[in-house]
Amino acid sequence: MIHDLRFDSGEGLNREGLIDRVLAGEVFVFRDALQHFGLFELIKKASLDGIRASLGEEAARRAEEEGFEHIHEWTDVADIPTLTDAVYDTVRPTALDVLQKFVSGAFPDAEILHYEETPNVRFHIPYDLAKPARASFEKFTKAHGEGKIAAHGPHRDSWLDCPSNGVNLWFAIGPVRHGNGLTIFQEDYDRDFKYKRSGDIADGEKLHKATTFDLDPGDVIVFHTDHMHGSELNRIDETRFVISYRMTFGKPHFPNLHYHTYTHAGLAASSLKAFATFPARMQASYLRSFPQRIAEKLSPPTGPDQPAREPEMLGVRDGDKIRVPLASVPVGAVRGVDERLCVARLSETECVALSRRCPHKGGDLSNGWVDGRNVVCAWHNLPFDADTGQSPCKSLRALKRIPCVIDGEDIFIPADAVEQVTTGPEPADANV
Ligand code: FES
Ligand SMILES: [Fe+2]
Repeated sequence: MIHDLRFDSGEGLNREGLIDRVLAGEVFVFRDALQHFGLFELIKKASLDGIRASLGEEAARRAEEEGFEHIHEWTDVADIPTLTDAVYDTVRPTALDVLQKFVSGAFPDAEILHYEETPNVRFHIPYDLAKPARASFEKFTKAHGEGKIAAHGPHRDSWLDCPSNGVNLWFAIGPVRHGNGLTIFQEDYDRDFKYKRSGDIADGEKLHKATTFDLDPGDVIVFHTDHMHGSELNRIDETRFVISYRMTFGKPHFPNLHYHTYTHAGLAASSLKAFATFPARMQASYLRSFPQRIAEKLSPPTGPDQPAREPEMLGVRDGDKIRVPLASVPVGAVRGVDERLCVARLSETECVALSRRCPHKGGDLSNGWVDGRNVVCAWHNLPFDADTGQSPCKSLRALKRIPCVIDGEDIFIPADAVEQVTTGPEPADANV
């Protein structure tokens, strides 16, 4: 359930038991929250300081006057990693102050707060512009993790190394639009999914349609870090600038690797600051994962992935056609036909077969859904026009599309057309 609320009018604002409700999967969009708590100018200033430090005074002036959403219009794409690093440096010292003010205002029941000292700085410039800089973006992603300057696929934060009782505060510093924002898979909150050692969802996991958001600067989304969530591949002509904070109320619980350092806010703000990370470490998960943590510092995670589900392959060869039972493809669904193809049911009477693998990073389109006349890749919420196979990202190749026929109880796809279908992403796209 998503609540869209305003603090200033108090409209619909019942925050009783808010912590439990967030940890039970309710999502809260607090409009104008940063302005309401007097935090917006503070974070904006810290961000502009970072831009000034990396790109100079003129860049900071333009960002302030024209808005962060235009940053890609006058910044060299190759400078985005440096710029992001510089903003990390200027925003990090404000994290405790920001969190304490936000939490004491927004969560009336909050008592003990643990938090990550380094918030996540997220500049997503339009994909078609980012693509040529993929090598430097990939390097940045290895150092800072997914989702900072490139899109992150669907995941739960605890799949890698985060606590299972975390709360994500996602602050829009510039505007966030449908097409460059956050995805939350509300209907998948309680479902079990297989996932990879890297923390990504396993191949073959089907998802329900994601919720996306339209936010103005200062709006905040609050959600449980174990919601299935990810980022949209930026398909519009605006840069999206967000800073997100992770925290727990009470001790963090680590179901996997206890890697992140969580700091006790009360101690961090006192003369006992030197001991502020101790309370979160005083638990079995920290000791248990010590050797693994050291090993992972030395080399990236390598252990075996959970075995993925068998890929769905509903197609059966029938003479010069491939046949798929119509009943297995409800209206609005996308289903796997064979390794190369999926089929989308656009209406009662219309289907189209498409390349199964997304040209971006190879996401399986049979895990996605139909939205109007688009087929959506669930990985980064990218729509492909069912009539052309093209996505709004012009630098990505179009999906191959093959018209098919509904006859009686079956869908028929001409088999000879399948040979022309390519099977994977454009190789050089990995990690961007
Ligand atoms: S949109 Fe990224 S893999 Fe499909
Ligand atoms: Fe995440």
